[in-house]
Formats: sequence, structure tokens, C-alpha cells
Amino acid sequence: MNLPSLKDAKKRTGMPVEYIYENKKITKVLDGKKYFIRTYGCQMNVHDSEEIKARLERLGLTETDNMEDSDVVILNTCAIRENAHDKMYGFLGRCKHLKETKKDLIIGICGCMAQEESVCEEIIKKHPFVNLVFGTHNINELEELLLKNDNKLDINVYSIEGNVFENIPYTRDSKYKAWVNIQYGCDKFCTYCIVPYTRGKQRSRKSIDIINEVNELVKQGYLEVTLLGQNVNAYGKDLEDELSFAELLEAVSNTGIKRIFFVTSHPWDFSDELIDVIKRCDNVMPYIHLPLQSGNDHILKLMGRRYTKEEYLTLVNKIKTAIPDVCLTTDIIVGFPGETEAEFQDTLDVVNEVKYDSAFTFIYSPRIGTPAALMKDDVTLEEKEARLSRLNELVNNYSLMNNQKYQDQIVDVLITDISEKDESKVCGYTNTMKLVNITGGKDLIGKIAKVKITSCKSFSLDGEIID
Ligand code: 5AD
Ligand code: SF4
Repeated sequence: MNLPSLKDAKKRTGMPVEYIYENKKITKVLDGKKYFIRTYGCQMNVHDSEEIKARLERLGLTETDNMEDSDVVILNTCAIRENAHDKMYGFLGRCKHLKETKKDLIIGICGCMAQEESVCEEIIKKHPFVNLVFGTHNINELEELLLKNDNKLDINVYSIEGNVFENIPYTRDSKYKAWVNIQYGCDKFCTYCIVPYTRGKQRSRKSIDIINEVNELVKQGYLEVTLLGQNVNAYGKDLEDELSFAELLEAVSNTGIKRIFFVTSHPWDFSDELIDVIKRCDNVMPYIHLPLQSGNDHILKLMGRRYTKEEYLTLVNKIKTAIPDVCLTTDIIVGFPGETEAEFQDTLDVVNEVKYDSAFTFIYSPRIGTPAALMKDDVTLEEKEARLSRLNELVNNYSLMNNQKYQDQIVDVLITDISEKDESKVCGYTNTMKLVNITGGKDLIGKIAKVKITSCKSFSLDGEIID
């Protein structure tokens, strides 16, 4: 069969908007078919999956949450730690089983693991029932790859990042809050991290395109955006004559969107101007995720983090002085190669000093191809686990302590969902990214409501609507 050609459409639009086959437009060629998508990893992956969904839906597919019922299965993978590999191979086992009874099932793998050569080789050798492997740089080719697949393994992964695409279609998971990419990739090359290899070098989107996207979201009724990048503070540094991140944030604030969050910050690029914008602009939320990774100068140096414990704490103090109600969260790795008990203790010291609202804590996991993978991974697993649990206990104490400050306070909450734990309640997040479960019905969804906090736990708050 001659495949619908994408080439012309691509040339004109920069991306495949529709398929032109024998001079006829073909859009819903897979009408009636269903897709199932499983996403692992960070917000970037979650947002990529929103693009994948839109592309599949353009072909006529609809989403199902029952894999057995699907015609296309997509697995969007994460490569950040070893357990991500185990998850993918576990999931592939289920896919293989399903394909034995459903011969036409199309199985696609994408995301950061797909960018790893060793993973592609393993799929060729051990999992040839997979149909499609595509990388983080060519999600825009999904429709083409899917349509031309002849039920054989087809690997399409580019090692070099391409241009930044605009006008990307998204089927967003929420009608009220939206992810907005402001940059792709990362240039920081922290020695333990695979991201610069799987997502390529830093490429910022033009500020005008970002502002246009946010304006469009405001028009569509969105109340909140989260600006996304691996290292948002370095926004624009790879472009000529572009706004700084602080300037971009202020410009996004001027769109009138009700709430703005941003992730992830690197302490290295965190400017005074940025602190000032967060302080001045009411719709920029006082929430900062500021990865620490380690509180010890020697380990920070080995990690290639470019700051010392002292510099990190000075930044935190500056932020807390300027924005007293700020919520600070972080990422911490325990058991980096060579980390001694005393060096780990420095990390606990920083946690004691900063008193984070919460922290994502990880056991160090060597990633092939990174400089740290060549260092001796000499902290035993038992020791790593013990450090992780001591750290978690400390962090959880501060989470509870910080949450208890909310008792009887009146806070704004963007209510977005039915509560997971109790269907008679709804839930949403405060300006400081605290999850609140609220007594009330579905009619509250989509509103920013004044809520009185009635009880506080380590990981969530309970509240009641007051007007
Ligand atoms: N091992 C453990 N944790 C890691 N992270 C990144 N790479 C590794 C690794 N090799 C953590 C960092 C980062 C977060 C997203 O994942 O803390 O900030
Ligand atoms: Fe990885 Fe460091 Fe870049 Fe974050 S800043 S994505 S930890 S290399």
C-alpha cells in the first residue's frame, strides 16, 4: 500500500497537520480504534503524553484506560533511575502476553529510555514484538510512524535534537491547569544525570510563542499554568536577544492568567530579579522547587552542581526574607559515590536549616554514560536505604510542622478534581502547592475558592468552603 504522504504537509506547516493521500485529505484514518497510554517519570513526560494523545486522536483513535481493549499501546518511559528500566520491562511482559491474542496490536515505546542505545539494542534482541520505538526529539512524527508501520519493529530515534517546534497539539489532562514548555533539554550535565543525554542540549522557546500560548489558554478558560523546563532559570540563555526568565515570568504574569507556577529551578541561575518578580506579581505563586541534591561541598563538587552548601543557604535566606510565605521543596540524592556518614549529615543539617515543605528523596542510581557511573558506587544498599529512611523521617517532620501552620487559615484553592480518597469531597491545591481535600460537590470544580483549613496532615490538608 502506498502510504499517505506527510512530506508536503510537513513542508507547508512545519509539522504534520493532516495527511494528504491521492490529493485527498485523510484525517480520521483510524476512526473507531482505541489507544492506551502509560506514562512514567517527570512532568515533562506527562506533558509529552498530552501531545501523543492529541496526535493519536487526530487520527481518530480514542483513549481507553483498559489496555486489553486497545489497538495501540504507548509506553512513555523515564530513564532517571534504574527502577525505571524494571518498570518498562515488566510492562512489556504484559504487552507481549496481550499481543499473543491480538496480533494487530501496535506497541510503541518512547520517552527517555527510548533515547538510550542500549535499550534499543535490547528491544531488537529480546522484545521484537514491539512495533515502534521513537525518541524525545521526534514525537511530531508519531502519526507518520504509526500509519506506515507494517507490524514489524521500526526504530526511529535521533541522537541529535532538532529544532524547537511550535503549534504542537495537546489533549490536556485538565481544563483548568496547563503545562507550558518554556525550554527543552539541559546543559548543566550534573554528573549523575542522564537527562542532558536523553533530552539534548538546552533549547528555549521564543518568549513570543510562550506568551501566545498562555494568552490562548486564558481565552480557553484556563486558570493556571506551570512553566516547564529542566532548568527554567537558564531560560533564554541559548537564544540571542531573548528575555531572561525573570522577564518572561513577568510577561506571563501580564497575560492575566490567575496562577503561575514554574519547575524546575537550579540554584546556580536563580537571580535577584527573579525573587523580585515572584514577590511583586500576585499571580506568580510563592512556591519554589529548589533541588539541593546534597548538603556537602565535596559531594556537590563531585556532582557538578556549581554551588556550595553556604551559597545554597544564602539563596534560601534571601528568598525567605523577600517572600516570607514561600513554600520550598527540593530533591535530594543519598548514597552518591563516596558519600560518608559525615557528608550525609551535612545534608541533614541543610534540611534542618531550610525546613522544607516537602522533598523528593532518591537513592543514587548509576546511569550508564554519565560521569558518575565511572565513580566507585561504594555506599552499600543497606546504608543507602538507612540514610533514605532517616532523611525521609526528618523531611516528614518538617512537612507536618509546616502544614500545621495552616490550621484555621483561610487560603485560596483552585479546585480541580473529586477527592481520590473520599468521593463526597473535592480537592485542589493552594497557592503554595498544598493539596487540600474539601467538603463539597462537583459544582465547585473549576473555581478558585476561599477555604478554611480544618485539619493538617503531613501530605495534605482538610478544609471547608467559607463563601
Ligand atoms: N540517581 C538518583 N537520583 C537521580 N536524580 C537524577 N539522576 C539520578 C540518579 N542517577 C534525581 C535528582 C533530580 C531528580 C529529578 O531525580 O534528585 O533532581
Ligand atoms: Fe539533570 Fe542537573 Fe540538568 Fe537537573 S540540572 S536535568 S539534575 S543535569
